[in-house]
Amino acid sequence: MKRAVLVLALFAVVILITVAAQAESKGEQIFKQKCAMCHVVRGQGGSIGPELTRIASRLKDRDLKEKLDNPKKTNPNSLMPSFKTLPKAEMDALLGYLKTLK
Ligand code: HEC
Repeated sequence: MKRAVLVLALFAVVILITVAAQAESKGEQIFKQKCAMCHVVRGQGGSIGPELTRIASRLKDRDLKEKLDNPKKTNPNSLMPSFKTLPKAEMDALLGYLKTLK
């Protein structure tokens, strides 16, 4: 009986870990909706823009934010749209996700 309880408990832990590992952060969801069609991260995404898998090792937080607000500032011919109108909560979540790409 004790053993059965233990097995069940272990089973529950494994399920919880699996669910947690699959849950995407809000920032990652926004990235997939708004950015992934043009940018590759870890092998997935479109190739219109440069790969962003390690973008946080190249751009500082401030530069990332500026790129999203005004892509043409660093590149007048940029094809990237501005995300200045993104609600602050979404922008913060997105920047939080981008910071993890090192
Ligand atoms: C329509 C395609 C398109 C979309 C959508 C897009 N981008 Fe871009 N992005 C580009 C292109 C093209 C460049 C390269 C030219 C430039 O620097 O502006 C770029 C450049 C960048 C850079 C600078 C990369 C570097 O190496 O300096 C960052 C950071 C970036 N994008 C982030 C994002 C994020 C985050 C999103 C989603 C909110 C996004 N982009 C959406 C096309 C896109």
